[in-house]
Amino acid sequence: MRPADLLTCKQEGRPIAALTAWDALSAALVEQAGADLILVGDSLAMVVLGHATTLPVTLEEMILHTRAVGRGLQRPAAQQPLIVTDLPFLSYQCGGDAAVAAAGRVLKDSPAAAVKLEGAEPETLAVVDRLVRSGIPVMGHLGLTPQSVHQLGYRRQANDPLSQERLRRQARDLQAAGCFALVVEHVPADLAAGLSQELSIPVIGIGAGDQCDGQVRVTADLLGLTERQPPFSPPLLAGRALCIDALRSWVAGLQPQSPPPPTTPAAPAAPHC
Ligand code: KIV
Repeated sequence: MRPADLLTCKQEGRPIAALTAWDALSAALVEQAGADLILVGDSLAMVVLGHATTLPVTLEEMILHTRAVGRGLQRPAAQQPLIVTDLPFLSYQCGGDAAVAAAGRVLKDSPAAAVKLEGAEPETLAVVDRLVRSGIPVMGHLGLTPQSVHQLGYRRQANDPLSQERLRRQARDLQAAGCFALVVEHVPADLAAGLSQELSIPVIGIGAGDQCDGQVRVTADLLGLTERQPPFSPPLLAGRALCIDALRSWVAGLQPQSPPPPTTPAAPAAPHC
């Protein structure tokens, strides 16, 4: 799957399935489940690395995890899902040169074929334009943008007509700047549905209703492995409890070992004369 194939999915009305992965094990599961796209999201900062937000994850860590994801894929190259890696906080906010260097590293040193970044302020649009003109496919991300947690929190976004019009304009701007797809997170369903109709690029939703061109989920949330899931991303199974119960049974089932036979104390060595 290549970035351009997502457009074909949209044109043919085939829903795009996108799931996150963070290592070889999760990548193999997601590939075998039939995902079109694997997102190495910066959510791995929280899900895998134990940080409180997505902000601390570094470019090096994103590359390391993307390489592990690539090693987990088992299909022939042409049939593998598209790997998209998040550009972490501060790797693209400091201008075009830094962004090209960061995104270039991702494409050069890992199997990712595209990057994702958040927002659509004029500086970000300029960065998208610069990356795309450098041959780097870019996926946009609007609505709840976790790298702006200290400004926006994790609340639903675009709840009033003014902010909805702003988000629609930002989505059009990202398309015009060259994004090949757009993630919209935790926004009203009718807004996301309208965007999917209006834009020619695929709109991939999370917490954005079921009328998008595709859906993306954090795999650990979907499997119920995380301690808590966002309200818009309920788990499919109680994975955490299932795993803990299974491991607990294994621990409890360990057989007590019979104690070793008592050893006779060694005779004291004869003193040297
Ligand atoms: O980092 C991530 O996993 C994401 C998804 C929630 C879309 O950006």
